[in-house]
Amino acid sequence: MEQQNIILIGFMGTGKSTVGRRLARFLGWEFIDTDQEIESVTGFSVSEIFHRFGEKRFRSEERLLVRRLNGRGQCVIATGGGTALNPENWTQLAQNGVMIGLYAPVEIVLRRIGQRGDRPLLKGTHQDVAELWCERQEAYAKAEFTVDTTDKSVDEVVGIILGYLERRGQG
Ligand code: S3P
Repeated sequence: MEQQNIILIGFMGTGKSTVGRRLARFLGWEFIDTDQEIESVTGFSVSEIFHRFGEKRFRSEERLLVRRLNGRGQCVIATGGGTALNPENWTQLAQNGVMIGLYAPVEIVLRRIGQRGDRPLLKGTHQDVAELWCERQEAYAKAEFTVDTTDKSVDEVVGIILGYLERRGQG
């Protein structure tokens, strides 16, 4: 049980990477950010992969990485917003991981990351982003535990996750 990974899932801008890094530091576990891993394996930024090779290629890099991560333990893994939407990825990650969802309403997401330009899927109109957000909520809601990150500091979110894991018997 205590070897299980902690997998953070949720829409872009919900704080997966920031929270994941802080959580890993607190636990003394390894932190893995799937977008960063893909960037270091391919030598391209996520945006470049989307632009040069298309989303399909990015998703295939994601699948390869998730397969590679299978068998690892005591890692906090911050996934990209689309990673857990693929059922094969979900199954592999959940095999040795607790799936924790981070949530934020779409207005908060837009306020946090709006037009920062490093997320190819946020380049559309607010309406496009809102549609994508809606489409994905059902999948994210399958996480075993979800934290609403609205108006919470990183430390508060980390504390809530740790409290849950303790109650669950992993803390
Ligand atoms: C994506 C989210 C991004 C990144 C890519 C696609 C998505 O990660 O993987 O741009 O499909 O939601 P973050 O959730 O870390 O922004």
